[in-house]
Amino acid sequence: MGGVSINYESGRLAPDTVRRMFDRIAPVYDAMNRTMTAGLDRRWRRLTAEAVVRPGDAVLDACCGTGDLAIAGAEAGGRVTGLDFSEPMLERARRKAPALEWVRGDLLELPFADASFDAATVGFGVRNVDDLERALVELRRVLRAGGRLGILEITQPRGALAPFYRFWFDRVVPLLGKLLPGGSAYTYLPASVRRFPGPEELAGLIEAAGFRDVRFRLFAGGIVALHTAEAV
Ligand SMILES: C[S@@+](CC[C@H](N)C(=O)[O-])C[C@H]1O[C@@H](n2cnc3c(N)ncnc32)[C@H](O)[C@@H]1O
Repeated sequence: MGGVSINYESGRLAPDTVRRMFDRIAPVYDAMNRTMTAGLDRRWRRLTAEAVVRPGDAVLDACCGTGDLAIAGAEAGGRVTGLDFSEPMLERARRKAPALEWVRGDLLELPFADASFDAATVGFGVRNVDDLERALVELRRVLRAGGRLGILEITQPRGALAPFYRFWFDRVVPLLGKLLPGGSAYTYLPASVRRFPGPEELAGLIEAAGFRDVRFRLFAGGIVALHTAEAV
């Protein structure tokens, strides 16, 4: 890192720093997901795919990482293209599902023509982008009118689970991260959730980007939100 100190606790990082962070955590990413969510992440991805993918759909899974949501989209009957800007994450996705199409690229400048897809999903990805509004507009651009969007993201619960959540995310997750290569990402994770818009605000941003019928549902006591919408 050339001696430059990076403030992971700000929860806001330059795109290149985000990419390098995911390059480093790629080897432990799946194991960390399973541990942090007690295995629930698989169910959330399946529900996301089932909410927006119809058999035969051309589907974009942006910020695909190691590919689990893209694979859930294929299991729901989609012809899925996974896109990510981290090559080490994509390598793992390719190994898991060689038959899917995997593309290296940036969500903020998608390498696809307008209206190329019937559905688009993003799992735990939009929280990391530099310009959320632009990401949503890009997703709208590559969807056909009537195309469906599904965004799965960590959010801050407000109810009874809030103290437990704060303890888990602010104390346990960064501690787990310290034991792992590239573990600074797990200091960045809770900070990035804190600065991310809540579900109602995110719904407003999705609508402003050119979607209608924006809905969200919360999982695991409000720790995770799934937003769905239809491109206008
Ligand atoms: C937390 S991981 C989520 C991976 C996967 N979607 C999942 O459900 O596990 C976030 C991914 O987003 C990717 N990413 C972040 N910003 C991106 C951008 N602007 N363009 C493309 N990929 C991006 C990272 O490389 C990383 O693989």
